[in-house]
Amino acid sequence: MSEETIKSLLTEERSFPPPADFVKRANAKDESIYEEGKNPEAFWENRAKELTWFKPWDKVLEWDLPFSKWFVGGKTNITVNCLDRHVEAGRGDKVAFYFEGEPGDRKAWTYAELLTEVKKFANVLKGLGVEKGDRVTLYLGMTIELPIAMLACARIGAAHTIVFGGFSPDSIRDRVEDSQSKVVVTADGGWRRGNVVPLKANIDKALEGSTPIQKCVVVKRTGDALPIEMQEGRDLWWHELMADASDDCPPEEMDAEDLLFILYTSGTTGKPKGIAHTTGGYMVGAATTTKYVFDLHDDDIYWCTADIGWITGHSYITYGPLMNGATGVIFEGAPNFPDKGRFWDIIQHYKVTIFYTAPTAIRAFMGWGTEWPEKYDLSSLRLLGSVGEPINPEAWMWYHEVIGHEKCPIVDTWWQTETGAIMITPLPGVTTTKPGSACRAFPGIDVAVVDEDGKEVGPGGGGFLVIKSPWPSMLRTVYGDDERYKQVYWSRFPHLYFTGDGCKVDEDGYLWLMGRVDDIMLVAGHNISTAEVESALVSHETVAESAVVGRPDPVKGQAISAFVTLKQGVDSSDELLKELRNHVATKLGPIAKPAEIHFTADLPKTRSGKIMRRLLRDIAGGKTLGDTTTLADPSVVESLRAQYEKQES
Ligand code: PRX
Repeated sequence: MSEETIKSLLTEERSFPPPADFVKRANAKDESIYEEGKNPEAFWENRAKELTWFKPWDKVLEWDLPFSKWFVGGKTNITVNCLDRHVEAGRGDKVAFYFEGEPGDRKAWTYAELLTEVKKFANVLKGLGVEKGDRVTLYLGMTIELPIAMLACARIGAAHTIVFGGFSPDSIRDRVEDSQSKVVVTADGGWRRGNVVPLKANIDKALEGSTPIQKCVVVKRTGDALPIEMQEGRDLWWHELMADASDDCPPEEMDAEDLLFILYTSGTTGKPKGIAHTTGGYMVGAATTTKYVFDLHDDDIYWCTADIGWITGHSYITYGPLMNGATGVIFEGAPNFPDKGRFWDIIQHYKVTIFYTAPTAIRAFMGWGTEWPEKYDLSSLRLLGSVGEPINPEAWMWYHEVIGHEKCPIVDTWWQTETGAIMITPLPGVTTTKPGSACRAFPGIDVAVVDEDGKEVGPGGGGFLVIKSPWPSMLRTVYGDDERYKQVYWSRFPHLYFTGDGCKVDEDGYLWLMGRVDDIMLVAGHNISTAEVESALVSHETVAESAVVGRPDPVKGQAISAFVTLKQGVDSSDELLKELRNHVATKLGPIAKPAEIHFTADLPKTRSGKIMRRLLRDIAGGKTLGDTTTLADPSVVESLRAQYEKQES
């Protein structure tokens, strides 16, 4: 960003106080929780006391900037808080997870059953030579074996490193080598849109040549649909190992600062960073945010649609909900297979009460039309959540009206792999929400928006989002690379954690996330956020989704180039193009009017659904394309480039 901070172009008048009947039984009903949060160490210590520890901590926080230790000297095991605690309290028969497979298979897993499976697989891992302090790579689809394997690692003190099932052999290889994992757990295949994802074949390729992996455990999921080869001496079937495993496995005593997991994030440049999370602080952060943000009660059915391969699944499918004794749903597959009603069918079937998904999915649903959700009974829903990208106000309104039937609060939750847990969010029983705003920091979290010099901006200002003090679930380092940790997160402003996101603060102090700062445009001396122009485009009735980038312009510095996908049944035309440009000008002012708009059937996205503006910038700027390996579908950029070049010539 330039000297000038982001100007607020988009204005939002709509606001939604929490419904009275929601407030009545909410876990947080009033401001008192924020008051308590003003003393973060006391706040987090009190939350930590709600969990089970073998030995309490001597000190809540040791802060040696930028390295933190939380609950110093405390001993615990996160699986005790996820499983044993509930079973011992007589809640062993409560369903922990409903599993919903793509081919239609369903199974319920109680807390007692899950604990038994975790102990058995923990013994399997021990039998394969895994010891406390080792790393284990998990490369699985969304089946029950994934949470079982991650909890089994935690049970015996091995760190899991989960590689999302959509990643290629090269990505697996990089991560296995960086983490020096001894064992990998995979499946023969996973179901997705009627096809088999060749998980085991990818592992075979990834492990060619020299590798630290000694053993590979294979879950049988797709069976005859895709035959696989088992390598003698290395590969072993999950079901055969489990058949002989003992279900007696006491939890390993873990120091609060022992490594719990590594999760790799692929930045825009360089090799992936192994984000390192430790036991005690992560446990407290995940448990507390789940309890208050999702307002969990004993009778809730909670469904987070993320993949466990992302941080959202780690914190808000496995650890957070289990620590709260919740009943969750795990689903395999995709939202549009066998048809575009899949999600609504799952909500209707399980009577889901809390639903957590991503803006990219919501915009897809909007594009498919209201007829899909309208076919199903969604009346069980009482709370909706969003995560992963800024949610455009119109997408928020659609979510509120069509899915939430205007009665469900929406929690737009901002956080990162690095933060481990939700940092900015409304509390559903306390906060009056505004469509498109993540509202305010979670209690005990100290965020600010600062200008180029690190000076805090006031209401009406904009700049860089930073976090001012340490928090329990913060990353401890980049695995094996403290220098990179310092350089990426603590060098832009020496005393502030740099999130890399742009943010503005409105007159009421509400926070509006503006996307990655690299994506913010500088047009004729004004900083304009891509998120705002995209939201203005999505507010037009014909637009399903859009991605906006700045391309070099000799006069203005940068000119705005927009890529737009239209809703189903809408045709592109020159008139519509003109209308959309004017629509943006009316919403945001003439400065934000796109110089050009390109209609496209698809936008390039990462495998976690985020729009990759970097590649669109390359296309619009006529540059050679940068790294495309993290794209979900690389053919999308190629066809966009061909289309772009045709239009420009
Ligand atoms: O740019 C922000 C965006 O996603 C980034 C973090 O990505 P990742 O580590 O993959 O974790 C995603 C799930 C927590 C952030 O730096 N982001 C995430 N949530 C939001 C968001 N941007 C705006 N609003 C959100 N609610």
